[in-house]
Amino acid sequence: MSSTKKYKGFTTKAVHIGQDPDPVTGAVIPPIHATSTYIQEELGVPGEYVYSRSGNPTRRNLEANLAALENADHAVAFASGTAAIDACLRFLGPDDHVVCSEAVYGGTYRLFEQVLRRASGIDFTYVNTSDLDATEAVWTEQTRMLFIETPTNPLMQLTDIAAAADLAQRTGALLVVDNTFMSPYLQRPLNYGAHLVLHSTTKFLNGHSDSIGGVVCTNREDLATRLEFIAKSAGATLSPFEAWLIQRGVKTMALRMERSQETTKRLVAVLGDHPAVQHVYYPGLEDHPDHALAKRQMSGFGAMLSFDLADFDAAKILLDALEVMVLAESLGGVETLISHPASMTHASIPENVRRERGIGDGLVRISVGIEDADDLVADLEQALARLV
Ligand SMILES: Cc1ncc(COP(=O)(O)O)c(C=O)c1O
Repeated sequence: MSSTKKYKGFTTKAVHIGQDPDPVTGAVIPPIHATSTYIQEELGVPGEYVYSRSGNPTRRNLEANLAALENADHAVAFASGTAAIDACLRFLGPDDHVVCSEAVYGGTYRLFEQVLRRASGIDFTYVNTSDLDATEAVWTEQTRMLFIETPTNPLMQLTDIAAAADLAQRTGALLVVDNTFMSPYLQRPLNYGAHLVLHSTTKFLNGHSDSIGGVVCTNREDLATRLEFIAKSAGATLSPFEAWLIQRGVKTMALRMERSQETTKRLVAVLGDHPAVQHVYYPGLEDHPDHALAKRQMSGFGAMLSFDLADFDAAKILLDALEVMVLAESLGGVETLISHPASMTHASIPENVRRERGIGDGLVRISVGIEDADDLVADLEQALARLV
């Protein structure tokens, strides 16, 4: 691959790194290497690639690209964001302890509680990691990992990544940051000392709601080598076709994020002015408790927001009335996706735990897409009008 030093800006990197034209045909877009295996020219002299579970050129191109965007030396792609999280946890074993943000994605909680606790004997404690004293208070001699999402899904609480990295560093624990909500365009946790940064590429990176994937980025060679080993041994690697799709999406991510963020500001304003809306959760709001931190560690406030309506019935009236926004799980697509966390993304969290964490039945989450802002504002206004 040619030198990447000339690619300085974020989108220049997104468009070019790992995307050298095909040397055989001159095709500007590298082909999808749909192959399971690779010829060995001579016995005992394998080439760079041997078998696609352990290495594939299309996946390798994406990994080079995503590493550059996260300011990482290494990236390893997985078949889903969940597989990427699972791979990070495979650094640990029985009796190891993980401190985890209490409002993580419901599937992360399910993986930790219903699979890993039982299968691997790993112990988990959930805490509001926005409060670093409380986080330190649950630390034990066995704590080997701090796992955070910032902002959290769906309540948009932030954790100070540099302070969290410092806490982990002091005890030799790994800091893992799920950066899915922000994308590397708006937040780069490795710059603040995180050891492992992961994404569900399914969301903003791919951006078109048409693939599932995940990636883990790191600057530590030992962690990267182990991650590659875990990927090939456990087998949850990303297919070449998905890698190609994700790469195509990544090229326009900065443009999509800018557009979505602008529209988000308008939707936040509409919600903030409406009598049926009890609270809006968005780190761009000056009265958000982590607004100052958001300005410091993120380069934009993102395209995710949540808000509280009175109860489930109010949420249902609103969600059923929308005509442009799409009622669906997931986030980060070109289309605006709206969801009801309590019954959708966070349904796998027991009701009492969910309520304790502030995810009520009236909570609604929006992932703002790239449609025309006027259409989205009009759609939201007409749906909100049914609540008064
Ligand atoms: C913040 C976050 N992390 C991880 C995941 C899991 O990713 P995937 O669905 O690609 O397995 C999700 C999925 O919604 C998510 O929202």
